Amino acid sequence: MSTLKMTVDLNNRISKINKEIYGHFAEHLGRCVYGGIYVGKDSPIPNINGYRKDVVEALKELRIPVLRWPGGCFADTYHWRDGIGPKENRKKIVNIHWGGVTEDNSFGTHEFLDFCELIGCEAYVAVNVGSGTVQEAAEWMEYMTSGNESPMTELRKKNGREKPWKVKYVGIGNENWGCGGEMNADYYSSLYKQFHCFVRGAEQQVACGPNGNDVNWTEAMMKNVGPWQMQGLSLHNYTVPTNQWQHKGDSVNFDEAEYYNTLQHTWFMERILKDQEGIMQRYDNDHKIGLIVDEWGIWTDVLEGTNPGFLYQQNTMRDAVLASINLNIFNEHSARVKMANIAQMINVLQSVLLTEGEKMVKTPTYHVFDMYKDHMDATLVYSNCDNKELEAKDGKFPAVSQSVSVDENGKMHITVSNASLDEDFDIDCAMPRAEYKSVSAKILTGKYNALNDFEHPDAVAPKAYDGVKLDGEKLEIKLPACSVIAIELC
Ligand code: AHR
Repeated sequence: MSTLKMTVDLNNRISKINKEIYGHFAEHLGRCVYGGIYVGKDSPIPNINGYRKDVVEALKELRIPVLRWPGGCFADTYHWRDGIGPKENRKKIVNIHWGGVTEDNSFGTHEFLDFCELIGCEAYVAVNVGSGTVQEAAEWMEYMTSGNESPMTELRKKNGREKPWKVKYVGIGNENWGCGGEMNADYYSSLYKQFHCFVRGAEQQVACGPNGNDVNWTEAMMKNVGPWQMQGLSLHNYTVPTNQWQHKGDSVNFDEAEYYNTLQHTWFMERILKDQEGIMQRYDNDHKIGLIVDEWGIWTDVLEGTNPGFLYQQNTMRDAVLASINLNIFNEHSARVKMANIAQMINVLQSVLLTEGEKMVKTPTYHVFDMYKDHMDATLVYSNCDNKELEAKDGKFPAVSQSVSVDENGKMHITVSNASLDEDFDIDCAMPRAEYKSVSAKILTGKYNALNDFEHPDAVAPKAYDGVKLDGEKLEIKLPACSVIAIELC
């Protein structure tokens, strides 16, 4: 066991950690919406107006701040009028990107926005740029958000909703460099400005940003589109265990070498943020434009025997450590990163919940979000930890990752994880001038591929932890291998 020195400087308050960093993403893909969120009012699965009761309760516990919908690639094929009005009259369409299955549109605008109200989160709607029109997008926003008299608001009222909803964020397309129309950055930025002029009703407009660390796309967007025209620039980056899209690696059956390689790859998020922030800074020194990481997470091969177009994968302690690293990175970059949305909320990629029929499990990733939720809207405080480098096939990366914040009541929250599989650490943490009286902690730990399934839903779950001791201005943290710890100081 090694001892690592950590410092927390309470006088060095860095940035607000926007609660939306803990956001989620739900696409019409596989069983995310249908079977995950929505089962319909007539389902034998306990539901509230068609929304799964177990899922609603689990998401409320997480206090999820924002939900992005309807895609993803699906967004640029989505025509909102197909999903309003009596369900029996709604048009059935083919979901071309995701398995070619029939989409019956029984979950549409009303169902999404009512769901956001039910779970108490902000709505983030992506409009169709790739195959839609400016008029279609403008009318959709008017339908959702206007309180005035107009054909759109009359239609909304006819469909049962008198008051407008709040849509805090609107995304102008999705991955328009790829599945959203294969555009180049100059073409997209002109189109963006056209949509920007007519699409009203959201507090913030988010433009399509780079694929991973594509600096040319960001440079073009920052040059062509001003901070008065966009409040956010999105960024998508997935962690692929093997770094090969043809064979991404298994979500459960992987060895220690692949575990380390995956976590080494996930640290690329930090490189991306540094590079992207550097470009944004040159055009927007005042941080008016947020970096919106609205798709992130681990992407593995689908679970054997499942539809390849549904992107269903399991979730292990590896995912928990990976989530912890990324959330700590986002906290550290919260001066520029204003939102992040894990992909995706239920039954797709790195989900917080998995469902099968009437059963539901909380994944290890769910528990990390739960343990991190007190960082939401708190202030990031400077922290530094001596680190130990771990070696993976593709390079080295730090074993320990941490972030520290202080909330409006003065409570301090520290989240820290250890990616090593064979070394525990003693962290000797100095907190000059800290005046805390008590400490409590929770730990999530287990074998690197430990998971929760429908037969063993609580195999990986957080427990109260007494391995953290407060001694005046010092904190001693025993950090076991392959663990995530959340600490509260009052
Ligand atoms: O999350 C799955 C897909 O990944 C999304 O639809 C797309 O935006 C991205 O390529």
